[in-house]
Amino acid sequence: MVGVYDSGIGGLSVWKELRALMPRQDYVYVADSAHCPYGEKSPEYITGRACAVTDFLIGRGAEAVVVACNTATAAAISYLRSHYTVPFVGMEPAVKPAALASRTGVVGVLATANTFKGSLYHDTVMRYASDIRIVEKVGRGLVEAVERGEVPSELVRRYVEEMTEEGADVIVLGCTHFPFLEKEIARVAGPDVRIINPAPAVARQTARVLRSPEEGGGTAEFYSTGDPSVLMRTAVSIDPELTAEHFHQINIQ
Ligand code: DGL
Repeated sequence: MVGVYDSGIGGLSVWKELRALMPRQDYVYVADSAHCPYGEKSPEYITGRACAVTDFLIGRGAEAVVVACNTATAAAISYLRSHYTVPFVGMEPAVKPAALASRTGVVGVLATANTFKGSLYHDTVMRYASDIRIVEKVGRGLVEAVERGEVPSELVRRYVEEMTEEGADVIVLGCTHFPFLEKEIARVAGPDVRIINPAPAVARQTARVLRSPEEGGGTAEFYSTGDPSVLMRTAVSIDPELTAEHFHQINIQ
């Protein structure tokens, strides 16, 4: 069983890829929606939440945990890896494929404030994109909108144009909520701008750390620390066979 965790429903964009790659695997998903957004909370707070959720996921039988949240990965992945024995897969800022794909030498990254502050992001930029100009855009307000099930067209337009006007021809989705805005981002950016979602690469990495990626009952259960209704609506749009009994509200302290 694979545990998947995000501050909210964004990690479903990663679960979608996990499920496509390993349909027989079993999944338990936690949306920490009562504490969302994480984007500007302290690293200590986010690490505390990540540990509480990890304990829950391991208690449900997770043999590996996918931290399907760029912000939680930035704040907590080193701590998690040094305090638990299960393998953790985090979100990689997809700066390397973006740098390779760019013809203009300008790449836009759309993420939360905390993701940009993390050493993982800085190390990745130094290693793979030192000769590239990166336009960093904090997508303030986007996570909250996705949590409400909305597409905030005006905000998307503003952030995307601020990147493309600087010459960006590749945009990295540096937050797992943003694939749910991908159509709108692509519409504003136009056909010459490539959009990179790291979720398929994260799914492949998860398959590598599992003992038996192809085995299991193909089940999925979903927990939200907040209102599970948008979680349910979004998950059902990915797997129409899911029913209300797969979704639960819980309190994780
Ligand atoms: N999905 C989270 C991420 O990938 C959103 C963070 C937040 O809650 O602000 O960064």
